[in-house]
Amino acid sequence: METLEMKTKIINGSISCLSELPEEKIFVVSDPFLLETPIFSQLQAALASKQVKIFSNIQPDPPIEQVMEGIEEMKAFAPEAIVAIGGGSAIDAAKGMKFFYNKLEENAKIFFVAIPTTSGTGSEVTSFAVITNKDTGTKYPLVTDEILPELAILDVELVKTVPPKITADTGMDVLTHVLEAYVSTGHNDFSDAYAEKVVQLVFEYLPRAYKNGEDTEAREKMHIASTLAGIAFNQAGLGLNHGIAHAAGARFHVPHGRMNAILMPEIVAFNAELEQNVNNECITAARYANLARLIGCSSASSRAGVNYFIRAIKKLRATLDMPSTLQEWGLKKQDVLKEIQIVAENALKDPTTATNPRKPSEDDVVKILEKVL
Ligand SMILES: NC(=O)c1ccc[n+]([C@@H]2O[C@H](COP(=O)([O-])OP(=O)(O)OC[C@H]3O[C@@H](n4cnc5c(N)ncnc54)[C@H](O)[C@@H]3O)[C@@H](O)[C@H]2O)c1
Ligand SMILES: [Zn+2]
Repeated sequence: METLEMKTKIINGSISCLSELPEEKIFVVSDPFLLETPIFSQLQAALASKQVKIFSNIQPDPPIEQVMEGIEEMKAFAPEAIVAIGGGSAIDAAKGMKFFYNKLEENAKIFFVAIPTTSGTGSEVTSFAVITNKDTGTKYPLVTDEILPELAILDVELVKTVPPKITADTGMDVLTHVLEAYVSTGHNDFSDAYAEKVVQLVFEYLPRAYKNGEDTEAREKMHIASTLAGIAFNQAGLGLNHGIAHAAGARFHVPHGRMNAILMPEIVAFNAELEQNVNNECITAARYANLARLIGCSSASSRAGVNYFIRAIKKLRATLDMPSTLQEWGLKKQDVLKEIQIVAENALKDPTTATNPRKPSEDDVVKILEKVL
């Protein structure tokens, strides 16, 4: 049985439509950087007639303590709606707040609005929130439909200020979401349709958005791609790329999308069983080859398709001036080696790894990390 259910209403338009919300008491969750930008003035103008409480402490990779702080403020304010505006970190923290607040205040009915200001996580349409536990050095994905936003507003003007490095990181996160969704054990025809479209959009428009942040067409296509990718992986699940990225990101503090991009070619090679003999009949390899054809590969062979796709990822990564190894990013080899075993253990425990098409062992994960050292 395949089910496609979409709870989130998506508006591709302007943040100004917030003024039409019927709710009066609005709890805004954001990050300190955005508070100082014109984006915030626009938000305040749209909410001018409402009672607004702003919580803008959110740091990248939000820790559980910030979620708890937000809940205390919510208890005092008793909001009717939450407006989360920012990157995945702000939206995920707000999702955590909504989830735990609802557990504490049983009759609370809070309308949740997500306004992404990066084109990356797709958090505005997913049941996922990634919260960091600093004590254990782990990132924990909270996965429940209770945190799906009721409304997502995509406003291309908000992403034009994203600097090139973050455009590259978040754009590669979009690509990782669909690559994982497309080969996941949970994929279906619905998620495939979204994933195939997104692969085409990313290869065409991410280099343009990176080179010129004011390119409205490229920015809008990437913003939509990010949301479509969210819909795809919310249906199909993710895989080992995210499992390792969560485990390694929490230890090494590499931005989420950059960590995904460093791992991506090795994950594709692992899932496609490229180390096995030539002409294997790997189903996952055939699926990657489908995607390769969408971006110009003319070979009928799965193996050639996978190799084409891996080269295309590396070329895209180079166009975006991204590192291809952890050392190139700035980590010291001995520091990574010290943590490699615990990262591998945590990657296998990460819930996103469960839908990877090939079951990895701890040794497999260590080998992948050694290849990107
Ligand atoms: N919920 C999900 O489905 C999901 C999926 C993937 C990743 N994640 C999580 O999301 C987080 C990453 O989110 P992200 O990649 O969006 O980054 P982010 O939210 O951490 O933001 C990165 C930086 O970009 C800045 N920024 C945001 N919008 C900007 C703008 N318009 N102009 C200039 N700067 C801007 C922020 O201030 C911050 O410094 C990680 O914790 C990751 O694990 C969640
Ligand atoms: Zn991601």
